[in-house]
Amino acid sequence: MEVMNKYWTIKTHIEDAPKEDDFYLKNSTLALSVEPGSKEMIVKNLYVSIDPYQLNRMKSSSSSQKTGGFAVGITPGQEIEAFGVARVVASENPEYEKGNFVVGVVTWAEYSKIGSNGMIRKLDPMGFPLSYHVGILAFSGLTAYAGFFEICKPKRGEKVFVSAASGSVGNLVGQYAKLHGCYVVGCAGSKQKVELLKEKLGFDEAFNYREENDLNSTLKRYFPDGIDVYFDNVGAEMQEAAVANMNAFGRVAVCGVISEYTDSGKKAAPDMLDVIYKRIKIQGFLAGDHIGLFQDFISTTSDHLRSGKLCALEDISDGLDSIPFAFAGLFRGDNIGKKIVKIAEE
Ligand SMILES: NC(=O)c1ccc[n+]([C@@H]2O[C@H](COP(=O)([O-])OP(=O)(O)OC[C@H]3O[C@@H](n4cnc5c(N)ncnc54)[C@H](OP(=O)(O)O)[C@@H]3O)[C@@H](O)[C@H]2O)c1
Repeated sequence: MEVMNKYWTIKTHIEDAPKEDDFYLKNSTLALSVEPGSKEMIVKNLYVSIDPYQLNRMKSSSSSQKTGGFAVGITPGQEIEAFGVARVVASENPEYEKGNFVVGVVTWAEYSKIGSNGMIRKLDPMGFPLSYHVGILAFSGLTAYAGFFEICKPKRGEKVFVSAASGSVGNLVGQYAKLHGCYVVGCAGSKQKVELLKEKLGFDEAFNYREENDLNSTLKRYFPDGIDVYFDNVGAEMQEAAVANMNAFGRVAVCGVISEYTDSGKKAAPDMLDVIYKRIKIQGFLAGDHIGLFQDFISTTSDHLRSGKLCALEDISDGLDSIPFAFAGLFRGDNIGKKIVKIAEE
């Protein structure tokens, strides 16, 4: 059997903030069968992840593309890879059979072909909604967990600042930090997000960075005794202000610099004398380097979810057609929590 498979691609490389118009939907016929012995599979995509890092793959060049694997550049016209949950519809891979749920790298498409060396594994939903396996129980969750516990090495009672705090990674960092006994302040881009952080997620304080003129004094107001840990999702002037307010031996985990992805002229320039004399550690990291923590992360996070100590914050749009709007929305601050697109019914 053959289907007309729809998939999104980019018209040209995207160098600044993405717009819906930068994408187009392509059709191609796809046989819902695979060559005997090929070890390939065809999967029907159910949920796909919408992530800021994908923009760096869509540029003509970016230092992220040099890391290879997950981050290589995307050519206009080519399918766009994304993390997702899918159902196997045809398999010549002996480890999978028709009907299995799988999770891993698929594409922004109705169906994806998975090669013999595809980054995919069988999924046991463990009683959780399938969408959790795209976000909180997948890379977003691992990023927050590894970045906070491994890179920031937090101690109970320490003062933690998180930017893009209502986003997929940020909201979890704040929740883990509260569970760890830290004092937590988050910043986000709207009043509604600030209220959610304080009222639903238990942050001690939160503020709307768009309403602040002088981030240095804002942070002094929220951290009169200084910041011990800064979990950076945005870079640029927020990173500079956080470093200016760090305590001696403070740690900065540079998870992402989203404000710099859409503006190549923007670069964080923290005061290096502060870094030296306060012995601040600033460390970038990639979640993929911490895959060894995955089992620990899954058991801790699923226990917290089951006991109600952790809240899964998801923002799910419906239908393949909604992908460009959902993606562009990440850079406008439209999303609250993990941005996911549901492509098909389970
Ligand atoms: N190192 C890793 O392995 C790794 C893995 C996953 C993600 N990341 C990075 O972590 C960060 C968060 O990713 P995520 O998936 O959790 O996305 P997200 O926070 O769910 O979504 C992006 C959010 O960033 C904020 N934002 C957008 N443009 C901004 C700007 N110019 N200045 C300040 N804030 C801006 C928006 O919220 P507001 O309304 O608050 O502005 C938006 O909702 C990104 O930088 C991403 O690249 C890194």
